[in-house]
Amino acid sequence: MALSRCSSPEILPPDRIIHCAPTARRDSWSSKHVIVEDLSNGQELYPVRVWNSLDKETVKPFDYITGIETFPNYQRTPVICDCEDGCDSNCKCMFDAFDVTGYPDIPYDEKTGRLTIRCQNKWASSHRILWECSAACKCGPDCPSRSAQLGIRFQLEVFQTSKKGWGVRPLRDIPKGSFIAEYAGQMRCAKDEAYEYNESDWYSFDITSEEGVTNFYIDASQKGNIARFINHSCDPNLIAVHVFYDDNNPQMGMHICFYASEDIKEGKELCFDYGNSYWEAKMKQNIGCECGSTKCQYRRGKKRSGKIRRKAKVDSGPTLD
Ligand SMILES: C[S@@+](CC[C@H](N)C(=O)[O-])C[C@H]1O[C@@H](n2cnc3c(N)ncnc32)[C@H](O)[C@@H]1O
Ligand SMILES: [Zn+2]
Ligand SMILES: [Zn+2]
Ligand SMILES: [Zn+2]
Ligand SMILES: [Zn+2]
Repeated sequence: MALSRCSSPEILPPDRIIHCAPTARRDSWSSKHVIVEDLSNGQELYPVRVWNSLDKETVKPFDYITGIETFPNYQRTPVICDCEDGCDSNCKCMFDAFDVTGYPDIPYDEKTGRLTIRCQNKWASSHRILWECSAACKCGPDCPSRSAQLGIRFQLEVFQTSKKGWGVRPLRDIPKGSFIAEYAGQMRCAKDEAYEYNESDWYSFDITSEEGVTNFYIDASQKGNIARFINHSCDPNLIAVHVFYDDNNPQMGMHICFYASEDIKEGKELCFDYGNSYWEAKMKQNIGCECGSTKCQYRRGKKRSGKIRRKAKVDSGPTLD
């Protein structure tokens, strides 16, 4: 059966529906500050509302899409397994992981759908990368090896922060290891240096290969999803993982997906680590980090040393321990 993005809770395996349960709306979050009811225009499981209690600003227009738009005529080629009695570590799809991490493994806990502890631990020593079964696999939608491909399953809100522009927060508690969102946008070639100097620098994510080469990046300046509003923190609660679920090409097939690196309370801003290279470049322009954490590394005026790389890499940030 072809698996499409999550459009209703019914297509999720029963034990994952719990994660979709809407939160009770708090009185203090009354609708008077909701300036957009649903940025996604019905494309996400829950409406993506925009909240502003600080000023009259609204979100600049962009096209809401839920995935990656690749180059015209590009053919995606997924790995396809023929497991009919449920996938396990012998599944062909998982076996690709063996080459990279030495652990052929189902990345998600069968009951909760969250990242397994084993999967989290291996990232302490290796690249954060995982494989899911593809829509063409025989195992079907109940296979435990599917999560990122099901799309966003927590209600998230865009809100105006005091110092960082827009940010993202959840409207219910999120357990550690949960899939949060994929970074959606248009795949572009990194050789096109024009983007370095325009505003799309605000909304882009490098696709960096195992060898550390960046040939492509995801540009969310014109088209993207809620992930384009996620800010940086020096004490982040999300990690970025390279996920493959519909194309095995090491670069073009990669999806950048965010997972909770700790239990996250309702209303707490979601943030990931943009990486040293991003902030080295910003600090050269006298722009500092406003994360407000006691662990902040990049406050304005703070002296930094070391080599300056161009942009954030996905393998920076916290480990899940
Ligand atoms: C991907 S966008 C995030 C959404 C953005 N805040 C907005 O209003 O659309 C990245 C930009 O947000 C701002 N930003 C993110 N994290 C920040 C931080 N910790 N301190 C200051 N600015 C931050 C920077 O201007 C950065 O270039
Ligand atoms: Zn399988
Ligand atoms: Zn499977
Ligand atoms: Zn499979
Ligand atoms: Zn900081």
